[in-house]
Amino acid sequence: MKNYAIILASGKGERTGLDVPKQFFSINDRTILEYTLDIFESHNEIDYILIVVNSLFADRINFILEKNNYNKVKDVIFGGATRQISSYNGVNAITEINAKVLIHDAVRPFVSPKTISDCIKALDNYKAVNVAIDSSDTIIEVDSHNILKSVPQRRYLRRCQTPQGFDLCTIKKAHELAKNDGIDNITDDCGLILKYNLADIFVVQGSVYNIKITYPLDIEIAKLILKKESI
Ligand code: CTP
Ligand code: MG
Repeated sequence: MKNYAIILASGKGERTGLDVPKQFFSINDRTILEYTLDIFESHNEIDYILIVVNSLFADRINFILEKNNYNKVKDVIFGGATRQISSYNGVNAITEINAKVLIHDAVRPFVSPKTISDCIKALDNYKAVNVAIDSSDTIIEVDSHNILKSVPQRRYLRRCQTPQGFDLCTIKKAHELAKNDGIDNITDDCGLILKYNLADIFVVQGSVYNIKITYPLDIEIAKLILKKESI
């Protein structure tokens, strides 16, 4: 069975407030997207990579692909208005009957090869896999008026990362059910599996380095991580 990586790179990056979507922001002359692609390209268990991008940035993607000559990039697919739609487009671009699929945020450029391997391995036994880390902060639930509703026990809480891994048929089914229900704004793919109760979702241990570049501070953190890696 082949292992696919779908790299979601079709967002606008509004919260970072840069003049380009954050996946195209360069640190040391390399875009965040390239750092992410490098990891999947060089991982010996990944067979194919699909990149989901906004059609407005097709030229930029073509430039990146020509420059790097990635062997595993099989297709570039256009994304949609939400992450869920982008993911739907990515998943449905896979034409094989059976496959393991890892769906990863392009803006998590420090995912470790071990996390990728752990997800692929867990998919031998589970049809859905999430990656998460413990929360050092207590997480609280509030209502729409910012009134505290509950303080869930921290030991049962985790902070989700990507990749999230799936048996291809299971994730396709989840996306189809959501589409038929008119749902298009679920921010993570495991959320869909859970919503439709399609499989147990095994949670693999992630890493604190696997940050999602979201706010301006995350760019500074990314620069520091790259500096540390180059020492
Ligand atoms: N993403 C996508 N298609 C969308 C929205 C998001 O492919 N319509 C991707 C982003 O490119 C990113 C990942 O999903 O790699 C996680 O989303 P997020 O961090 O929210 O990125 P953006 O939506 O780009 O940022 P923001 O919400 O601040 O605008
Ligand atoms: Mg977003």
